[in-house]
Amino acid sequence: MLENEENPCISKSTRLPRKRFYRARAHSNPLSDSHFPVPISPSHVDYSLHYPQFCQSSDIVAGSKKIEFADIGCGFGGLLISLATLFPETLMIGMELRDKVTEYVKERIVALRKANPGEYQNVSVVRTNSMKYIPNYFEKGQLSKMFFLFPDPHFKEKNHRRRVISPHLLDEYAYVLRVGGIIYTITDVEELGDWMKSCLEGHCMFEAITEEEFEADPVVKLLSSATEEGQKVSRNGGQTFRACLKFGRQKKSDHLWRPAILLMGAKYKLKPNKGQLRGSYKDGLLLYLFLARAH
Ligand SMILES: C[S@@+](CC[C@H](N)C(=O)[O-])C[C@H]1O[C@@H](n2cnc3c(N)ncnc32)[C@H](O)[C@@H]1O
Repeated sequence: MLENEENPCISKSTRLPRKRFYRARAHSNPLSDSHFPVPISPSHVDYSLHYPQFCQSSDIVAGSKKIEFADIGCGFGGLLISLATLFPETLMIGMELRDKVTEYVKERIVALRKANPGEYQNVSVVRTNSMKYIPNYFEKGQLSKMFFLFPDPHFKEKNHRRRVISPHLLDEYAYVLRVGGIIYTITDVEELGDWMKSCLEGHCMFEAITEEEFEADPVVKLLSSATEEGQKVSRNGGQTFRACLKFGRQKKSDHLWRPAILLMGAKYKLKPNKGQLRGSYKDGLLLYLFLARAH
């Protein structure tokens, strides 16, 4: 579109895109295959397209800036826009499954960059399925913050596997988070809040953040106030349920049950043919591997 041609999707007064031109279906199925380009590895993510002011070349030079914050299911991008000015030197990205919504966020960032020269250069968005492609975008230990704000609840039990927080997906998130990196979750659905909390608390690599850390974290206040969904909930006087945990060392209890299983196998080996119980270190090891996988 030519510079001086009017774009009807952009508001004349605010110069920002108007949501009504980016109407999308309420939900996309995260288990179905969508067709969009996916980088084959984090080193194939073209930073110069996302952050031209920070990265001029498409090659990531060792030691250069990398994305640190990821807003998973960013929706219309409210949180990212607030974070961009709060952490102007930190690169951040929104990951969104719905194409129209992603398009809206892209236009919103373009408009904000234009209206505020030098600002919003550290924020971008990509259309992708975070349940499938997180390791294509981020290296091990790259991220310091991941956000899961007001994710789709997928109420029916048969659809729980569509939830963006699950014990299995937490293994992937743990992989891309650095030690001390935080996962922030919030929802207005109590049952989903309990689910996300119990997945996080049950995972051996996530630990609670202290009350002091929580109070001092400027991001916590934005979880509701900066997101479009959070604003909707507070307009309607709804309740929210948060769980924020950090990626840390393996939990103590976990250190205990693993050797205990190995010992159990060893004990059975010492007393072969006693009753029904026969076993060996190998059995213990197999059981250990099975439980470690299931955990
Ligand atoms: C209820 S909205 C919340 C949006 C935003 N976080 C907020 O609080 O305003 C959930 C968003 O997650 C997106 N989403 C769901 N599953 C996704 C997935 N697997 N990958 C990326 N985005 C996903 C949906 O398209 C939707 O825009």
